[in-house]
Amino acid sequence: MSAQHMLKVFVTRRIPQEGMKILQEAGMCNLSVWDSDEPVPRAELLKGVAGAHGLLCLLSDHIDAEVLDAAGPNLKVISTLSVGFDHLAIDEIKKRGIRVGYTPDVLTDATAELTVALLLATARRLPEGVEEVKNGGWSTWKPLWLCGYGLSGSTVGVIGLGRIGRGALMLISYILQKSLAIARRLKPFGVKRLLYTGRQPKPQAQEVHGEYVPLETLVSESDFVVVSCSLTPDTQGLCDKAFFGKMKKSSIFINTSRGAVVNQEDLFDALKSGQIAAAGLDVTTPEPLPTNHPLLTLKNCVILPHIGSATYSTRGVMAEISANNLLAGLTGTEMQSELKL
Ligand code: NDP
Ligand code: DGY
Repeated sequence: MSAQHMLKVFVTRRIPQEGMKILQEAGMCNLSVWDSDEPVPRAELLKGVAGAHGLLCLLSDHIDAEVLDAAGPNLKVISTLSVGFDHLAIDEIKKRGIRVGYTPDVLTDATAELTVALLLATARRLPEGVEEVKNGGWSTWKPLWLCGYGLSGSTVGVIGLGRIGRGALMLISYILQKSLAIARRLKPFGVKRLLYTGRQPKPQAQEVHGEYVPLETLVSESDFVVVSCSLTPDTQGLCDKAFFGKMKKSSIFINTSRGAVVNQEDLFDALKSGQIAAAGLDVTTPEPLPTNHPLLTLKNCVILPHIGSATYSTRGVMAEISANNLLAGLTGTEMQSELKL
């Protein structure tokens, strides 16, 4: 393609090389990249997107009417390097006829795995234990020290049995399904009941013996409540005072969806007062969580820096798909994964 016919593409962050290579080798993009590991400042985003035909963005970029206006009428495609799309003003995008690519499925295993890891770390108090070893708090083996809660014989409830919720449930319930050798190794996980809720029952839940129940039943009967739904106006602030008030005092709350599903003040109160036993969060509001945030003062709250999909291979494939989605949007061809608007 001649230089004057190259299509302008703005990439809002340094992304894995797998994705950059595809864009560079396509030979049709005049690429402009915010070449940093840190988010693009808003003013630079507005400047960088001006006149762009394609925008490759991240979940930390708020793509609203102001950004779309700054881009102008050339903009054909927005490709986000994420499965979540709550950072995109979908109505505005749809109004302007812009296509959207995203990265479902390829991060499901990594995120489900992290969800189970966070659940176990929180329930068995791993960060506290590691800290005690380092700070000399480990004096001897003590029968009542650092006791937590196990999955064996428990009820696990998943809010939002989508790709990731199902993946987490399958990991947890593996022993109910698979060969005896795996069952023997994973026997300590012996989950008794798997509950889920959402907008409608899922036939796929049968394979993990999942029971579709109302939210209220799930919250009050589960020993582990796992949130893996998408962030929508309906789920925003879903986990609030009333929600935590219905949970068992011995129950554990896990969130790997989006921080805004949780009212964090209410979660703090529930953890501080002993209304619930512990919480594990991979996502918060805001991100990063300020280091003086009250939740960080609590030993029974384990917080990770949004690393659900963070394996080298997953992030590489996400970059590849988002680059390919972008090119498909520019050329008007079929995307690997297009959001149906
Ligand atoms: P899916 O679209 O497959 O699943 C989303 C689920 O949310 C669906 O099952 C949907 O239920 C459910 N849901 C929507 N509204 C409600 C509601 N009002 N009440 C209960 N459930 C509801 O997406 P994924 O599983 O791939 O991803 C889910 C979310 O996880 C993403 O949107 C993203 O925010 C987050 N995520 C976080 C990661 C991390 O690093 N921590 C990594 C990847 C994703 P139904 O099917 O019945 O409509
Ligand atoms: C997503 O893709 O939505 C995650 O939050 C990050 O992988």
